[in-house]
Amino acid sequence: MIRPVSLGVPLRRGTKMRNLLRLLLIAGFASYSLSDPFLIEVTEDDGDDGDDGYGGYRLPGIHIPSSYIINLQVSADVFSGDSTAFNGTVVIDFQVTDETDNIQIHAPVDVDAVSLQGDGQAINISDYSSYNSTTAILTITAEEVLTTAVNYTLTIEYTGVLRSSNMNGFYRSEYYESDGTKHYLVTSKFEPTWARYAFPSFDEPQLKARFTLVLIYPRNLSLSALGNTPQQSVEDVDDEYEKVTFGESPVMSTYLVAFIVSRFTCSAGANLTDEVPYQVCSRPETEGDRAWAVEVGPPPNEGPGGLY
Ligand SMILES: *[C@@H]1O[C@H](CO)[C@@H](O)[C@H](O)[C@H]1NC(C)=O
Ligand SMILES: *[C@@H]1O[C@H](CO)[C@@H](O)[C@H](O)[C@H]1NC(C)=O
Ligand SMILES: *[C@@H]1O[C@H](CO)[C@@H](O)[C@H](O)[C@H]1NC(C)=O
Ligand SMILES: *[C@@H]1O[C@H](CO)[C@@H](O)[C@H](O)[C@H]1NC(C)=O
Ligand SMILES: *[C@@H]1O[C@H](CO)[C@@H](O)[C@H](O)[C@H]1NC(C)=O
Ligand SMILES: *[C@@H]1O[C@H](CO)[C@@H](O)[C@H](O)[C@H]1NC(C)=O
Repeated sequence: MIRPVSLGVPLRRGTKMRNLLRLLLIAGFASYSLSDPFLIEVTEDDGDDGDDGYGGYRLPGIHIPSSYIINLQVSADVFSGDSTAFNGTVVIDFQVTDETDNIQIHAPVDVDAVSLQGDGQAINISDYSSYNSTTAILTITAEEVLTTAVNYTLTIEYTGVLRSSNMNGFYRSEYYESDGTKHYLVTSKFEPTWARYAFPSFDEPQLKARFTLVLIYPRNLSLSALGNTPQQSVEDVDDEYEKVTFGESPVMSTYLVAFIVSRFTCSAGANLTDEVPYQVCSRPETEGDRAWAVEVGPPPNEGPGGLY
């Protein structure tokens, strides 16, 4: 079950952004044209790479992920405003529907290392330097042909850059307490195609999988982490970092992965169902303003699963 979380991220700019986005969307639909790569008619893929009617923007659709383990690490320098760097390791289980020695994956990050296993056996990688910055697609080439009915595990270690002037992808935001202290937080906004900026992924909505999120952040800054699912464990990594592991998500699209690492605290409301708690989280200073949201927030318990 997905745990809904109301976030008290500073809203002024977000609201403006959303209104602007709405306007852009309306403008976008008004100028709908076949040359727009995101709004073209859906046609059968002829399987010819780069000549598939999508201008090379679509993944080939032959790598089918089943699960991701996403490890993201953010240093103290980010929470002091001195850095926008982060690093991560993503582990993806997938199968192929056609024989191929290539893996095409969205990866607009700096890839430090790639490894691949087929049914637990290491497979050498001959190349992962072929990256197209227009389509954000990285091509990884294996030394052997990948075949159907084998479970492959792809591991990518990488470094990335948090956005700090746009509130999308994996971004750093900031706010002031009333005494003038400035605090930083990091959080996500992945819809429609921003998940790839946080973790290399088959970042198309139909390529659904289960996600396990692991967030690693400084121990000593009063930070805590929220994600789609309840926390499963909180451990100290070393003197500097602590690590939160969240429960595995249901099968869902990449863009639904969501998280925040901040100094926010939470007020619990009545559970939505036996399994799904409800809480409202915000800056500690605004704790007194949460009561109303705690009371009226839970949506009517309707539809399959009660929530959506
Ligand atoms: C990257 O992809 C775009 C869109 O398909 C294509 O026009 C361009 O030639 C590609 N660039 C390289 C270096 O292959
Ligand atoms: C981030 O980089 C550090 C230093 O190389 C490394 O020890 C750590 O495991 C990396 N974290 C992740 C989540 O990959
Ligand atoms: C993988 O590469 C290593 C080093 O180049 C080589 O020794 C090994 O034989 C290769 N393994 C396979 C299965 O090709
Ligand atoms: C591959 O993984 C699936 C579950 O994702 C499992 O049912 C199947 O037994 C695995 N196959 C092999 C050969 O390990
Ligand atoms: C927290 O730890 C980091 C890294 O060890 C250090 O740079 C920072 O000054 C510490 N902050 C506090 C508030 O102790
Ligand atoms: C609410 O849900 C949580 C998490 O599933 C559970 O531990 C707790 O017992 C529930 N509380 C009530 C009052 O049902």
